[in-house]
Amino acid sequence: MSEVIDPRDRLARITALVDLDSFSEYGSQARHRVTVFGMDRKRPVGDGVVTGTARIHGRPVEVFAQDPTALGGSLGEVHAAKIAAGLDRAAKVRCPVIGLLDSGGARIQEGVAALDGYGEIFYRNVALSGRVPQISVVLGPCAGGAVYSPALTDVVIMQRDRAHMFVTGPRVVRAVTFEDVSLADLGGADLHATTSGVAHLVADDAAHALDLTRRVLDHLPSSCHELPPGEPARAAGDMPHVPGDHREPYDVRTVIGGIVDSGSFLELHKQFAPNVVVGFARIEGRSVGVVANQPLVLAGCLDIEASEKAARFVRLCDAFGVPLVTLVDVPGFLPGTGQEASGIIRKGAKLLYAFAEATVPRVTVILRKAFGGAYIVMNSKSLGADAVYSWPGAEIAVMGAEGAVDVIYRRELAGEPTLRDELLTRYRAEAMDPSVPAERLSVDEVIDPGQTRSRVAATLRALERSMRPGYRHDNLPQ
Ligand code: HXC
Repeated sequence: MSEVIDPRDRLARITALVDLDSFSEYGSQARHRVTVFGMDRKRPVGDGVVTGTARIHGRPVEVFAQDPTALGGSLGEVHAAKIAAGLDRAAKVRCPVIGLLDSGGARIQEGVAALDGYGEIFYRNVALSGRVPQISVVLGPCAGGAVYSPALTDVVIMQRDRAHMFVTGPRVVRAVTFEDVSLADLGGADLHATTSGVAHLVADDAAHALDLTRRVLDHLPSSCHELPPGEPARAAGDMPHVPGDHREPYDVRTVIGGIVDSGSFLELHKQFAPNVVVGFARIEGRSVGVVANQPLVLAGCLDIEASEKAARFVRLCDAFGVPLVTLVDVPGFLPGTGQEASGIIRKGAKLLYAFAEATVPRVTVILRKAFGGAYIVMNSKSLGADAVYSWPGAEIAVMGAEGAVDVIYRRELAGEPTLRDELLTRYRAEAMDPSVPAERLSVDEVIDPGQTRSRVAATLRALERSMRPGYRHDNLPQ
């Protein structure tokens, strides 16, 4: 049972997040000077937000927490100026920013001053993107334009039941579209974790949300100018037996468990686009980002949502110097009119782009199959992977044997259909076996599954000297 954190205690959420006695508040006496709409009688000290500097696991952070008990945590000019000043401090000292959000949005009485306040924050969120980690922890309502600051940050954590994020609330929705919708269905944590992809992580309560925040931060450097922090190494779990029949599903997370330090995998976007798995982990204590096709869902095909999810994660890792480990078991891009019309070309290209531009150490392991465009996209050698390994028995080709034989032997099969099995066997041996790409260095080594952890670890160790801290690129929302 986790600790209950009282949202009416304006400092409680911050002190529960940061190292003991490490918080220094800034602007605690700030107040708005608005007099219209009777606001001169409502001037909460601090203007509805607590801001300041602190430490988490000994490292400096900038933190702000909106106070729902002061004018509903609504954002006016002074409230915004305090957050903006915190973002400026983070830029100067190069440290992460954590926002604990709980707000009714733009303070209506302050009009354009409140809207411009959001603009000042968005401007700084973008300026800091890719430079220092920014984490948004939504612990209550987050309405209107307020949602766009979290959307510009690197990781969004939402508290189940309490957090709601929407651009227009249920009342406006009803007035405009005549839809009757609940807060949860419009912008609840589960909706954003499964359908919209806005939330990377969902917490059971505030204490859990703060714990997840610390876990995310543990994998990231204080800024792009440093290397991610290390931890003592731990052994990996056992490598599972992966079914030889390529149509039989298995959970790729069990393979991840056989490669990374035990208990270190922190999956992001677990329920959104579950046909690809992404998350932070450690190998020999070093932080890594894992991207893996998930054969349990859509046979591991890449579709629009999976491409965007993986692309954003790859760019996050690359921006902050976190090496990438890619596990491939992919039959291709998901075919169909729906995907084509919705832009799989444009959106699939995001993942291609993200891998191709990444300069962090990049290791790929092909587990069972890698076909067509999806083979290239999933951090292939030609896209700049530092090392590509394949398990024996993997199939790597332009397409699966059935489809390929029908195309290239169409005439022969029309005359003699009984040749099909023989042609399939020949195609598998001559065109799909990992020895074929290994001959031309598209695969560096064919390795036994049991060697995967040690081989990936040795590769990352060897590549460690190639890591160059510094600004690489932003983490554009996608
Ligand atoms: C001014 C606000 C406010 C707001 C809440 N309050 N939201 N004051 N501006 N945006 C005040 C209430 O008047 C009330 O004051 C106190 O905060 C607590 O609010 P309650 O409604 O009593 O609390 P609760 O029942 O917990 O509901 C919280 C809420 C609700 C769900 C957040 O207040 C709400 O729906 N607020 C409006 C949300 C919204 O539409 N925001 C969008 C604004 S437009 P008293 O004095 O009675 O205690 C926007 C655009 C920005 O944000 C664009 C930027 C680019």
